[in-house]
Amino acid sequence: MKTVSIVLLGLACLGAGPTQASYALADKNGCTSCHDLDERKLGPPFRQVNRRYAMEPEALVYLKGKVRSGSREVWGRAPMPPYGEDRVSEADLEAILRWVLRLHLAPE
Ligand code: HEC
Repeated sequence: MKTVSIVLLGLACLGAGPTQASYALADKNGCTSCHDLDERKLGPPFRQVNRRYAMEPEALVYLKGKVRSGSREVWGRAPMPPYGEDRVSEADLEAILRWVLRLHLAPE
């Protein structure tokens, strides 16, 4: 958690808002090669993921499990490969998913 806070603080100092800070975290972890904020790439745009799950109480736990073990047949034909802790740390994954689940609260 400490590392995440320091990274976020660092980005905040560079003038990035909270939305950009977590986009940067998704980018750092390679998620943005398949997920954009608004455009469909191989994976669904993060705003659509937000629309689907933001109101689900178990969304964070569910989506963490999906990224860890991979996902298929929810959004289309392309599957998402599993991302273990060697690819994305627990702290980073949780921060990215919390950001995705709060996107509807962020300005466009
Ligand atoms: C190689 C491309 C690729 C990468 C890299 C990738 N994803 Fe995905 N992701 C997908 C695809 C394709 C789907 C849709 C899978 C499906 O239909 O079930 C998906 C689905 C998802 C979903 C929705 C799952 C559901 O059950 O609705 C989340 C959340 C997600 N990805 C987060 C992430 C995060 C966070 C990262 C970075 C750690 C990441 N993805 C990296 C391709 C990718």
